[in-house]
Amino acid sequence: MAVFMILLTGKVGKIITTLILVILLITGGVGYFAWYNFKREVPIVYKSAEDHFKYGSINSGGVPFFIWEVLPELFAKHLPGPGGYKSLGFIWEEGKEMPVGVSKSIVGFPRQGSTCALCHSTTYRKTPEDAPTLVLGAPTQTFDSIANIRFLAACGNDPKFTPDNIIPAIEAKHQLSWSDKLLYRYVIIPDTQKKLMGLGLGFAWTKSRPDPGPGRIPSFNPVKFINFRLPLDDTIDNVDDPAIWNERKHKGFDYHWDGLETSLTETVIMGALAAGTKPDNVPLENLQRVEDFIRLIPPPDYPFDIDPVLVSQGKPIFDNNCASCHAFGGDRTGTIIPVEEVGTDDHRIEMWTQAAVDKYLAVGDGQEWDFTQVHKRDGYVAVALDGIWLRAPYLHNGSVPSLKELLEVPSDRTPVFYRGYDVYDQDQVGFISEGPQAQKEGFEYDTHLPGNSNQGHLYGTELSTEDKQALVEYLKTL
Ligand code: HEC
Ligand code: HEC
Repeated sequence: MAVFMILLTGKVGKIITTLILVILLITGGVGYFAWYNFKREVPIVYKSAEDHFKYGSINSGGVPFFIWEVLPELFAKHLPGPGGYKSLGFIWEEGKEMPVGVSKSIVGFPRQGSTCALCHSTTYRKTPEDAPTLVLGAPTQTFDSIANIRFLAACGNDPKFTPDNIIPAIEAKHQLSWSDKLLYRYVIIPDTQKKLMGLGLGFAWTKSRPDPGPGRIPSFNPVKFINFRLPLDDTIDNVDDPAIWNERKHKGFDYHWDGLETSLTETVIMGALAAGTKPDNVPLENLQRVEDFIRLIPPPDYPFDIDPVLVSQGKPIFDNNCASCHAFGGDRTGTIIPVEEVGTDDHRIEMWTQAAVDKYLAVGDGQEWDFTQVHKRDGYVAVALDGIWLRAPYLHNGSVPSLKELLEVPSDRTPVFYRGYDVYDQDQVGFISEGPQAQKEGFEYDTHLPGNSNQGHLYGTELSTEDKQALVEYLKTL
């Protein structure tokens, strides 16, 4: 210390002090610059619970917002059709900055992310000319998650993914300062490119299995192979996105198609991790708001006429054949029915392993939250049927296009149909899944492919035609 004092008092001391101050200023400045441009968080808070569900950040990470915005115009050739992100099935409300299910947050610079509404909200139309009706909490009918991932990866691998192409496209929409431009050129764009190429590599295994198509995702293999680095296996995990409304009435149910979770709070955190949130960056308050919201949103009413006489005939048929597994308060509702009993496709069960359970149980170690209710199960949950009219196609793999067909034996169910067209079919009670328009806008679903089987769930298939008609009318009221 004495030496230090001497140094600081003499002439040499003055020079050294100045040098130290300059160094401190420079490092402090660099530190501040780095913090400001990469870490500074400016919260974007949505007052309404609905907007929070649609657009509120869950820290999922994603593509820098300004880059994400210009990808469809720069790389339109990698999209499945015209219309930008809409061609991947994103729902875009008139006049909004981004589609439902996409968040914008500022962490240093604006970043794009996913929200729960991406897979858990849908549109339907009563006729092809009808304006789409948006329903939050519903399974998406149109969003094709794997096509979206492949689009982003293709952009990253395109030789045109360069600062010289991307920066002018951004500048056509936003003003960038000279320092912004330097950051985009030398840090953000190269880093994004690396991540997008990595995304493609991470999901390369999906190419060796049937494509899920719109309204379905590979559910837990991405977490097994990418996050947990478990060895690749050949299991197929394509599942239908489920509805998540009315959760207060599902209290005590098993969650996920195979019931691998029994806590709603943990299931919500799992949803965030699946969307890309890092375990040490889980926004518990934001997720609590989402959980409160999905507990309360009611299932939507059937939007067409219902025949009250048929409904009253259908109720006892439901009570006798279905209620024990599907009515609120039924003995087996919300519990797991062994796969040998229900007889539906078993790939989704095979995919979920004890090794994955063990990894999940350790993910929350040392965090403010934890997973304690993750299990390995051997069947499918007998789900409640609230809002079932809008949850087509049916079963965990989305293999049966309509309620009418679910009441037919598997050999009479349509073997190849189209999913992803959001016009409703009142006659079959599901979405229109055949014919030129469904074929044009939809994805071909072939029930012969592994993981896509429409076998099993024979309940109600032996009822008379009249009883089936009455039962379906009753199902519209749930
Ligand atoms: C990329 C699409 C996607 C995103 C994003 C997503 N989920 Fe899901 N969610 C699914 C799928 C698919 C399942 C069923 C998975 C399975 O069982 O194989 C599911 C299951 C669930 C379930 C269980 C439903 C039940 O009754 O069994 C809840 C609750 C849920 N998600 C809530 C959320 C929440 C909350 C978020 C946001 C924090 C979220 N999800 C984000 C696709 C998604
Ligand atoms: C023994 C229990 C049991 C009975 C009885 C039963 N189901 Fe199911 N149901 C299930 C199970 C389990 C599933 C999930 C199977 C799967 O996804 O592979 C299911 C799925 C469904 C689905 C699809 C849900 C969705 O979100 O896709 C509908 C619709 C349905 N059942 C209707 C009925 C009707 C109508 C009856 C009466 C005629 C009935 N079930 C009788 C156990 C039962």
